[in-house]
Amino acid sequence: MWQRPPAAFSPWPWAICCDKMDLITLAIVSFLYILPAYIANSSAALFGGGIPLDLGRKLGKHRILGDGKTFRGLALGVLFGTVAGNVIGYALIGTEFSLGSIWFYTVLGFLLSSGAMAGDLIKSFFKRRLGYKRGQMLPIIDQLDFVIGAIALGSLAYIPPLETVIFLIIITPLIHLFLNVAGYLLRLKSVPW
Ligand code: CTP
Ligand code: MG
Repeated sequence: MWQRPPAAFSPWPWAICCDKMDLITLAIVSFLYILPAYIANSSAALFGGGIPLDLGRKLGKHRILGDGKTFRGLALGVLFGTVAGNVIGYALIGTEFSLGSIWFYTVLGFLLSSGAMAGDLIKSFFKRRLGYKRGQMLPIIDQLDFVIGAIALGSLAYIPPLETVIFLIIITPLIHLFLNVAGYLLRLKSVPW
């Protein structure tokens, strides 16, 4: 079971609260925890498409969710995220980072990836209500929807340390920006955002 190191152990100077955690440890612990949600979100984007979840229906003037939310994206996102949780469990079992059994990690992977997909759907629902078109940018919210959904639903199985939540909320939009700029420089994307 991973435990907080004692205060004398490389405390990070800008410690948010009272508990100190070395920044590298914080990054490792945080990414290992959220990985199923990252995988769910990227799998939906990579392999999604086809029949939309709202079946093309509208609520008032706008689509309920839009063509960007599909059955295939949802199903493959949850599937790959759950498999990721299971694999992480196998990798961590018996190490100092382990939090529980394989079952714990598989269930956590399922909750994190379902929460990621739900957060994304809820965001799209509200984007449509506000009149934003499918794919129209809503900075920060577009990048954090899945992380917040994942942490919320994942909390049924495991509540992460506050440092992890803050770290992920700061780092996720930066990773997103970095990947988009890299994709633009590699000519995989037409715009750098
Ligand atoms: N995707 C999917 N099914 C989901 C979630 C995502 O098929 N449940 C795919 C869609 O092809 C979508 C892409 O992943 O276009 C990127 O997802 P996202 O950025 O969340 O959707 P947007 O197209 O930007 O739509 P929205 O404006 O509703 O966020
Ligand atoms: Mg989008």
